[in-house]
Amino acid sequence: MADLSVTIAGVPFKNPVIAASGCFGFGLEYEDFFPLEALGGVSLKGTTLEARAGNRPPRIAETPAGMLNSVGLQNPGIDAFLREELPKIAGRDVVRIANIAGRSPAEYRELAERLRGAAVDLIEVNISCPNVREGGAAFGATCEGAVSVVREVKKAAGQPVVVKLTPAAADIAEIARAVESEGADAVSLINTLLGMRIDLESRRPVLRNNFGGLSGPALLPVALRMVWQVSHAVKIPVIGMGGVSSGRDAVEMFLAGASAVQVGAALFRDPFAPVKIIGEMNAWCDTHGVEYVRDLRGAASLWEDDPDWRLL
Ligand SMILES: Cc1cc2nc3c(=O)[nH]c(=O)nc-3n(C[C@H](O)[C@H](O)[C@H](O)COP(=O)(O)O)c2cc1C
Repeated sequence: MADLSVTIAGVPFKNPVIAASGCFGFGLEYEDFFPLEALGGVSLKGTTLEARAGNRPPRIAETPAGMLNSVGLQNPGIDAFLREELPKIAGRDVVRIANIAGRSPAEYRELAERLRGAAVDLIEVNISCPNVREGGAAFGATCEGAVSVVREVKKAAGQPVVVKLTPAAADIAEIARAVESEGADAVSLINTLLGMRIDLESRRPVLRNNFGGLSGPALLPVALRMVWQVSHAVKIPVIGMGGVSSGRDAVEMFLAGASAVQVGAALFRDPFAPVKIIGEMNAWCDTHGVEYVRDLRGAASLWEDDPDWRLL
């Protein structure tokens, strides 16, 4: 058995597999399948100051090797999160990650303030949601926007801060460097990539919101490329996600530079996916003589003799 433990921003994880925000509710949605403790961590549903009903349906569409969603941060608001949801998992042996989203830097700061002393180990700052009219990916697409949010959150946060980045940024490594210099303790990437599908009969978008975020296996190569770029641009840990569906995918994320992975859409296809991924990582490490999974982090090297590689 390999040692799968990792430490991110001073927080120890028993294994590096984390349920991704928006795909695991507030931690108890999969209790019929496996105990929460099987996971290294859980990133809880994105939470805003006020309750949000989310966007109108249909808000899910199938795609080749993936799915679109335009849920739009449906959540009961920070008060209900603290009062009703968090206490249900407060005593559980799993890293709890609150995922927050605001319409302004001040709102993000207030959310971080409200989480002070709460039973969460990390705060994941979502500056990358493509499905909301205000805030969301607009903050994550520019260094100025990203910095304005992280600066406010760091003034208030009682827990280490993970900044969740968007693939919509022109240069995601530049955004990562900007949030690192503002005090971010880790980054996670990638959030969904904006997409659309059109119904041939009605000639209308399938999603009532017109556009939605693409997740699932189709995203994996894009995510790997971005994890590679970001992990080579910053010193803080990188949590990789986007299409991770197997232990091999997770190992690939590590080789690209991730210190842990999150698993989202794969849960909808197979609710046991994260547990299987943990087992498959273990087996892969065993057959490859890897004692500590953390040793795999960033262990891939580019073909540097290719004259074009620097264009990255
Ligand atoms: C239905 C759904 C809801 C999501 N909600 C959130 C959210 O509230 N906050 C957030 O940061 N990311 C959210 N995401 C993005 C995922 O956490 C993840 O970044 C993305 O889906 C890529 O990973 P995957 O391919 O493993 O799903 C959501 C994704 C899906 C599919």
